Amino acid sequence: MIKYKILDTLRQREGMVVSGGELANRLGVSRTAVWKQILSLQSEGYQIESVPNKGYRLQKSEVYSAYEITRRLNTQIIGHPVIFLEEVDSTNTYAKKLGTNGGENGTAVVAAHQTSGKGRMERKFESPEGDGVYLSILLRPKLQVSDINSITLMTAVVVSDTVEELCGVRPSIKWTNDVYLNGKKLCGILTECSIEGESGMVEYAVVGIGTNLRQVSGDFPEEIRDIATSVFQETGVRIDRADYAAVLLQNFERYFYTQHFPQNKASFLERYRNDLFFLGQEITVVGLNGQYTAVALDIDGEGRLLVRTEDGRTNALNSGEISIRMKEK
Ligand code: ATP
Ligand code: BTN
Repeated sequence: MIKYKILDTLRQREGMVVSGGELANRLGVSRTAVWKQILSLQSEGYQIESVPNKGYRLQKSEVYSAYEITRRLNTQIIGHPVIFLEEVDSTNTYAKKLGTNGGENGTAVVAAHQTSGKGRMERKFESPEGDGVYLSILLRPKLQVSDINSITLMTAVVVSDTVEELCGVRPSIKWTNDVYLNGKKLCGILTECSIEGESGMVEYAVVGIGTNLRQVSGDFPEEIRDIATSVFQETGVRIDRADYAAVLLQNFERYFYTQHFPQNKASFLERYRNDLFFLGQEITVVGLNGQYTAVALDIDGEGRLLVRTEDGRTNALNSGEISIRMKEK
């Protein structure tokens, strides 16, 4: 596309003036055509200054769009295509509709803002504009429904790798689907799927990942201020959202395709286990029929949490409808 060729040229000489004539010659179009494309780029958020009688100058711009994510991607499947939405109810809901309507394996649905971002059991995931990366990946894997839970575990490791790669600090994982930094929640993962009843095979799966990148404490609603955090709040590093989305998709492909999920289960579970942050501690296990105190021991080869109850029994917990709460010290 001519527009992005102009952008590439300006980007190669960021901060310098490139004449309209040079851009027109290079691309074999008129100066007026160049000017029209510049206007369009400006409307996408690129800060391009028009210097009278000289040309155009691109200033550093942080644009969050399908183009900006895609141009950073070096994947075969994941993120092909990227569908970018300024606003949506939930990227998981959107991706599930794509799943039902023939959407492509690997499609990534990314939103700048979700009006009804959701967590497990229809809980709300706050997804304000400008501060986080909210995305869902549509997969059409040849898997049994019993493998679905492992995708969530794998994804928690993908998120930890991504945060570490971009800001140098490795977060921790709270079994099963949350990623924490310094004891507060940074990211939530929600995997949903559609199953073919006869065979128990997955028809499609949607892996939703919401990461807080830049909020400061006051940006979170009162009720989650004490439990939620962002990469910026904990590390002072301000990650570009397009960088984060692209590296996340890249890492997801590495674990899911390059390393052949689920055959790589033992290796990502090993990383998952190393990242878990409450092993050895006393926790509260909250289920539908009440709660009890136990000590978190380990996870088993299926990713179930092994806990020792007060009367000395060992229970293996499936995530299902169970929540884990840290004991107040
Ligand atoms: P568990 O998964 O063990 O049940 P959880 O309390 O984290 O624990 P989830 O369903 O995983 O529950 O996540 C939803 C919860 O996350 C919400 O109830 C809210 O407390 C919290 N939350 C909502 N939005 C955000 C956000 N942007 N960042 C961090 N936490 C959030
Ligand atoms: C949780 O904390 O329990 C999971 C939160 C998952 C949030 C992500 S944001 C992108 C995708 N769309 C949603 O509505 N939820 C997931």
